Amino acid sequence: MSTLIRHDKHLLGLKRLPKSELEAILNRATYWASVPSKVSNAFQGSFVANMFFENSTRTRFSFEIAEKRLGAEAINFTAAVSSVQKGESIHDTVHTLESMGIDAGVIRLKPSGILEELAESIHVPLINAGDGNNEHPTQALLDLYTIQQHFGQIAGLHVAIIGDILHSRVARSNLWGLQTMGASVSLCAPNNMQAPELLPYAPYVSMEQALQADVIMMLRVQLERHDQGMIRSAEDYRKHYGLTEERAAKLAPHTIIMHPAPVNRNVEMDDAVVDHKRSKIFTQIKNGVPVRMSVIERALS
Ligand code: CP
Repeated sequence: MSTLIRHDKHLLGLKRLPKSELEAILNRATYWASVPSKVSNAFQGSFVANMFFENSTRTRFSFEIAEKRLGAEAINFTAAVSSVQKGESIHDTVHTLESMGIDAGVIRLKPSGILEELAESIHVPLINAGDGNNEHPTQALLDLYTIQQHFGQIAGLHVAIIGDILHSRVARSNLWGLQTMGASVSLCAPNNMQAPELLPYAPYVSMEQALQADVIMMLRVQLERHDQGMIRSAEDYRKHYGLTEERAAKLAPHTIIMHPAPVNRNVEMDDAVVDHKRSKIFTQIKNGVPVRMSVIERALS
């Protein structure tokens, strides 16, 4: 029984999260977005460790704000100034913080495939803040929230995810979450940035077809994860797969533009498109706080 309870409170990914759970998280985020007071004392006395083994701005700080708005104590762990530098493993680091009495952990990892195993041996709820190219569930949740907020519903919409699918945990979590919520998803990427294992789940389409979608979700070209020579040049990528001003001008009037950020300006998206009237990039960032409040509440409740 205790195992079941622990696993219900982890949030490792959206692939197997039922629609009822997604809806509950999104509904609660709507509540937190509507609460006028900045800080509640709902979780006073609870400690949440933000354990980032890879760099972050949006995810890390919005989790910290979310925790503080819920009255919890946020403990910030940064691998670069920790005993990880002396060779301590991820497991020993998380186990150490658990032994000190944290109530939940938010964790971002460079490698994929170790979080599930880690979660089996850790007794406090773990929230995946991005693991390798596997999943980034809270990014996808805030994306779902943003789409729902704009269109009123997700079911029936066509979402095109465009760019570096191969290296993208955002693409994977969105694919799972969007399909569970009833959207149809198309993928669009250069041949060497396609993820073949996703083919059974969503078709790869041309850029022209992708730009017909209701939601254009652009991805960052993850240069830090590339082997040499994956793109010929930034200009070449922009020409074939970038959301240029010219392409943005031809989108249907109801189409919205999204990007998880940070943006490689003038590579996957033109500078002017970042602030386009239909760009939701800063709305996505804003929505990260109530969505992560909902996720932290689920873990601590
Ligand atoms: N979108 C996102 O995960 O951004 P950070 O890497 O800054 O957290």
